[in-house]
Amino acid sequence: MLLINFKAYAQSSGEKALEIAKTCEKVSKKLKKNIGIVPNCLDIVNVSGKTKIPVFSQGVSVFEPGAHTGSTTAFSLKRVGVKGVVLNHAENKIEKAILKKAIEISKQYKLKVLVCAKDIKEAAYIAKLSPDYIAIEPPELIGGKISVSTAKPEIISKGVKKIKSINRQIKVLVGAGVHNKEDVRKAISLGASGVFVASSVCKAKNKRKIIEELAGGLK
Ligand code: G3P
Repeated sequence: MLLINFKAYAQSSGEKALEIAKTCEKVSKKLKKNIGIVPNCLDIVNVSGKTKIPVFSQGVSVFEPGAHTGSTTAFSLKRVGVKGVVLNHAENKIEKAILKKAIEISKQYKLKVLVCAKDIKEAAYIAKLSPDYIAIEPPELIGGKISVSTAKPEIISKGVKKIKSINRQIKVLVGAGVHNKEDVRKAISLGASGVFVASSVCKAKNKRKIIEELAGGLK
């Protein structure tokens, strides 16, 4: 899977979020590749109602619906057609106890769960919580020009091995600095099931071109 995080970039917000979603949908259909998106929460209702590709939320609250001001509940995400949640991103870390509850409530509402890990040690801890996906992302490479595949290939191969030794069902994505087909190919050849990207797509002038290139690197 190619999972694209829109973060809070102006270039992937508002009407642009929907444009990117539609482009991903076309590329996914043309290349027969699994492409998912992670729009900002302000755009998620509009986007998930108008696209068929999997939409993930940038987070979820641990509460059931009720008097919880400022919360984005799993209940509401599910209702608007969201398919999954991204938790513990390097830019939005959460405490272990909250993470556990967020995974539980997401599963209860049948949302897929992707949890980010900064290194193999954190990935091993997360694997015991049985999310559907773990995305390994060295924080220092996020948003940069050098990809995890080039700078830290061993974190991919060893990370996949470690996670699979704890729970074979978990799919491992890798991210940080991934910006071309070769980065994707290398990540896949080292055992990853896909990549998690942001800046290479959100900041690109020609978004379709880069989405096609990255998706083309998947198996
Ligand atoms: O969520 C994916 C992300 O953290 C990777 O960001 O900009 O390095 O592709 P980027």
